[in-house]
Amino acid sequence: MGHRALPLPWSIRMKIALGAAKGLAFLHEEAERPVIYRDFKSSNVLLDVDYNAKLSDFGLAKDAPDGDKTHVSTRVMGTYGYAAPEYVMTGHLTSKSDVYSYGVVLLEMMTGRRSMDKNRPNGEHNLVEWARPNLRERRRFYRLIDPRLEGNFSIKGAQKASQLAHACLSRDPKARPLMSEVVEVLKPLINLKDMASSSYFFQTMQTERTMAHSNSVGARNGMKPQGSFGRNGQPPTRSLSHGAHASPYHQSPKPNAR
Ligand SMILES: Nc1ncnc2c1ncn2[C@@H]1O[C@H](COP(=O)(O)OP(=O)(O)OP(=O)(O)O)[C@@H](O)[C@H]1O
Ligand SMILES: [Mg+2]
Repeated sequence: MGHRALPLPWSIRMKIALGAAKGLAFLHEEAERPVIYRDFKSSNVLLDVDYNAKLSDFGLAKDAPDGDKTHVSTRVMGTYGYAAPEYVMTGHLTSKSDVYSYGVVLLEMMTGRRSMDKNRPNGEHNLVEWARPNLRERRRFYRLIDPRLEGNFSIKGAQKASQLAHACLSRDPKARPLMSEVVEVLKPLINLKDMASSSYFFQTMQTERTMAHSNSVGARNGMKPQGSFGRNGQPPTRSLSHGAHASPYHQSPKPNAR
């Protein structure tokens, strides 16, 4: 039978999101020479026992362009599911490509889903595509939140995080925020205590959702909803994404970057 993994609490997810955002903000805006991370994804966010986030794998990082150049033109080497659309299409790399990838990771933490998951029903393989309608329609933010939290998340925090993810995932790179702006939005979200589970609205909504879900997915193929946190029955004390979850969907084989 195996014991059921406890989902990572909402406040810890926000703490990790903040820590990772600070890391990128530092690279983009504070490092002596600005750096574009280029391969930002959950498996490259390492966690210590207190869930302090550290960024790993600088093998693909690039010095940001200086002067009049606005981007670095490179062979596309990001990871499918995380790479910004303009980077995939043109190879133009800017710090805003990192902001997009950050948005995907933020979404993974909010939803408990992986950026790419072929085990999900058709139409839900790509996390961003699945999430977009609920990101666009602000009132629908609660549909994004990991159901395994069972309402143990801050309503205001989830709303703000959704809006933030939406901005980071803008198709227009210029519309994406700076990482320092992301940091400022996230800071106050860590300690919010307006838990959805204690709101009447959420309880009603949750009941309806559970019923709707068992009528569709569950009944159709007998699959249980699943997510990316603690699948191995352990909290992710090593990295945000366990090795077993590391995305194999690289767009091109690893070059001699490392
Ligand atoms: N220093 C480390 N401490 C703990 N876990 C690590 C460390 N470095 C990597 N990992 C974990 O080991 C696994 C493999 O990491 P690795 O960096 O080789 O691949 P990846 O992160 O999936 O992809 P990429 O090669 O693009 O970074 C990942 O789950 C990663 O989080
Ligand atoms: Mg890695």
